[in-house]
Amino acid sequence: MAPKQEPSRFAIEPLDDKHDRAAFSCGVEALDAYLHKQAGQDARKRAAVPFVATADGKTIAGYYTLAQYAIQLDTVPDAIAKKLPKYPTVSATLLGRLAVSTEFRGQRVGETLLMDALHRSLTLGKQAASAGVIADAKDDSAVSFYRKYGFLDLPKVERRLFLPMGTVEQLFR
Ligand SMILES: CC(C)(COP(=O)(O)OP(=O)(O)OC[C@H]1O[C@@H](n2cnc3c(N)ncnc32)[C@H](O)[C@@H]1OP(=O)(O)O)[C@@H](O)C(=O)NCCC(=O)NCCS
Repeated sequence: MAPKQEPSRFAIEPLDDKHDRAAFSCGVEALDAYLHKQAGQDARKRAAVPFVATADGKTIAGYYTLAQYAIQLDTVPDAIAKKLPKYPTVSATLLGRLAVSTEFRGQRVGETLLMDALHRSLTLGKQAASAGVIADAKDDSAVSFYRKYGFLDLPKVERRLFLPMGTVEQLFR
């Protein structure tokens, strides 16, 4: 589904020391703990790049992480696999986490973050190939959020979804 967005009041920027990580709460313990304790280290060690949405440069309304990933072709349904190159593994972009603070829910922050992640993945994929974006949803509600934007289930891994880069490209035409 195409985004409905008007220009957002939130800037999306790489996580930095000026952002108040400790105050962030989305109600999912694992996603809160990741931002509080792990995200900075992942950024420093280049395991993932965390991006935050902020209106004032300090308060974190939401965040997501991006990393490069290799999908095994045999975990992908035939309908998707036949459009991918026939190698055992194919490069993709991993949207590892995406969460919006409970305080900012329902204000299209989730959509703004997702569109930013997809646009960034598309741009990066023009420099180092990526067949699509993988998302790991934390629960069934998160699965339905991603499906709304055209993500397809990768049934061999629980709650893992995939959006082919061709579909991402159409979103930004
Ligand atoms: C899922 C989540 C990111 C949505 O963020 P949000 O800012 O409240 O959502 P938005 O305001 O951007 O909603 C955009 C659209 O998605 C819909 N939507 C929001 N949450 C949804 C959900 N869980 N399932 C299905 N649709 C959802 C909204 O109704 C809206 O639809 P519309 O275009 O018809 O108006 C947020 O609820 C969250 O952080 N949840 C906890 C963590 C989580 O589940 N993360 C997901 C990845 S692990």
